[in-house]
Amino acid sequence: MKALILLISLVAVVPCARAQQIGLIANTDGRKTISLDGQWRTIIDPYETGYYDYRYQPSADGYFKDAKPKTKSDLIEYDFDTSESLKVPGDWNTQQERLLFYEGTIWYKKSFDYQRKENTRLFVYFGAANYIADVYLNGEKLGRHEGGFTPFNFEITKLVRDTGNSLIVKVDNKRRRDAVPTLITDWWNYGGLTRQVKLVETPATFVQDYFIQLQKGSRERISGWVKLNGSKLNQKVTVGIPEARISKSFTTDANGSAQITFDADLTLWSPDNPKLYDVVIEAETDQVQDQIGFRTIETRGTEILLNGRPIFLRGVCIHEEAPFRGGRAYSREDALTLLNWAKELGVNFVRLAHYPHNEFMLREADRLGIMVWSEIPVYWTILWENPATLENAQNQLREMITRDKNRAAVIIWSMANETPLSNARLSFLKKLIDHARSLDGTRLISAAMERHYLNDTTTQMIDDPLGEYVDVFGCNEYVGWYDGLPEKADRVEWKMKYQKPLIMTEFGAEAPYGNHGDPLTRWTEEYQENAYQHQVSMLKRIPFLRGTCPWILMDFRSPRRPLPGIQDFHNRKGLISDQGEKKKAFFVMQRYYQELRGALPK
Ligand code: GCU
Repeated sequence: MKALILLISLVAVVPCARAQQIGLIANTDGRKTISLDGQWRTIIDPYETGYYDYRYQPSADGYFKDAKPKTKSDLIEYDFDTSESLKVPGDWNTQQERLLFYEGTIWYKKSFDYQRKENTRLFVYFGAANYIADVYLNGEKLGRHEGGFTPFNFEITKLVRDTGNSLIVKVDNKRRRDAVPTLITDWWNYGGLTRQVKLVETPATFVQDYFIQLQKGSRERISGWVKLNGSKLNQKVTVGIPEARISKSFTTDANGSAQITFDADLTLWSPDNPKLYDVVIEAETDQVQDQIGFRTIETRGTEILLNGRPIFLRGVCIHEEAPFRGGRAYSREDALTLLNWAKELGVNFVRLAHYPHNEFMLREADRLGIMVWSEIPVYWTILWENPATLENAQNQLREMITRDKNRAAVIIWSMANETPLSNARLSFLKKLIDHARSLDGTRLISAAMERHYLNDTTTQMIDDPLGEYVDVFGCNEYVGWYDGLPEKADRVEWKMKYQKPLIMTEFGAEAPYGNHGDPLTRWTEEYQENAYQHQVSMLKRIPFLRGTCPWILMDFRSPRRPLPGIQDFHNRKGLISDQGEKKKAFFVMQRYYQELRGALPK
């Protein structure tokens, strides 16, 4: 089964002949790495002149050749080394005014030297590149990656030189109907090498991937696996948790895989006590270390159980938008700013919308004790009947789970957001759910779905057929904003077809910070506050509600929001402005969460 999953994972990354690719390296944190962040030379190429010839045929002499005139008569019409540069990591849209709305291709070049060591291998690792990345080293194509929010790596052991390596990446963020996401999103299509790029050095045979978590439903049995990659696949591997005096040995099979199972009496991870253990995976040829928390997450009827006890998910939605400077967030500081604002709101849970966020968000959530809903960008109306679209979505799902499956904070994998009912959609999403369960049977599966009014106007019915296949039901509603005025929430009742927990995964209203007026004047903080007050009292009346995630923690850029002086291409539903200013509605939610935590009388 693991070999099959590994085989499948090669699909998303289209390798090239000379560069054999092995799939994702799960954890690069504990490895010797060399950062390639910083200024990269770039060529803006709206017509993809560096890739196609004038007959729109892929050219053998494209910019990836990084060619230089050899004689005074040579004709070379580009030169990376005299071209301008852009910062990596970073979206290109917020680095230059003229690139704000740019959608197309930009070529990136980074030169580096590297002394190869005996018995080692070398990979180039990308945290993410939006949307399609074609990667070349010294003129050779390494491969292509599709999907703007998940990591990928290429092996360059055989291609790297001691000096003057030319790493070139063609990044294209053009939107396509068959892509994931598809043509329309309510977030900015930030393009570029949006997350860290680094060289990763490994021994010839190394620990490529591992899964070490508590078995579903058990608070003392650890079960998972370890996967080696290289020539010496049959090895003794030891999984150690020094602080708990645990050291268990296993033997990998001919494929380099070992199933691991052992009992352990550990302090369980929870928001009140986000305990992480140093876990050491030692093979004869390699050692990798990670900080892992152990907790169980299950449902029982309409209850969500963390470590066997019912919990309420006090959440907030977050886009991967950088506070203060705007643009795609990518750093530990960005993650800490956003998560600490969420903590101030009183959350124990965040919904990372609508795509996998950078690894700092997940690792800081682990450390801060914030549970996470992680989602792939199957958003609105995807091409359900297109096999390539399904494969693309499955790949993004696999890369998300591969990177974050050892994060205790992640409790829910979400397959989609606000997708229209149809049989094609249902079968598409069922395949994703089956895939997620085959990769990770320990977490809850969900999706953000929609509701409809029963034939009268005040009963909201939740009966999306997908509800049959998920563990937790996510529902988005905007009573008081897109649906009537704030007081309408007082008259709305909720019904659900399924005996399952409900998380209200979106609700809210919009107001730029500092815009004031009476509670019924749209776009004012008072209207937003009014909407939240009625929302909170409605939410309190829903018996099967087990979590709330207001849309959204912070204002974010959106191409669908042009209203001058109010939105200016930002969605202003944040409880906090993009400059960190708390709006009146923030305090309505903060008070509700204090009540739920029992810090204030109900
Ligand atoms: C939708 C959607 C969000 C969007 C929000 C809004 O429900 O899921 O991506 O930003 O509503 O309209 O503000």
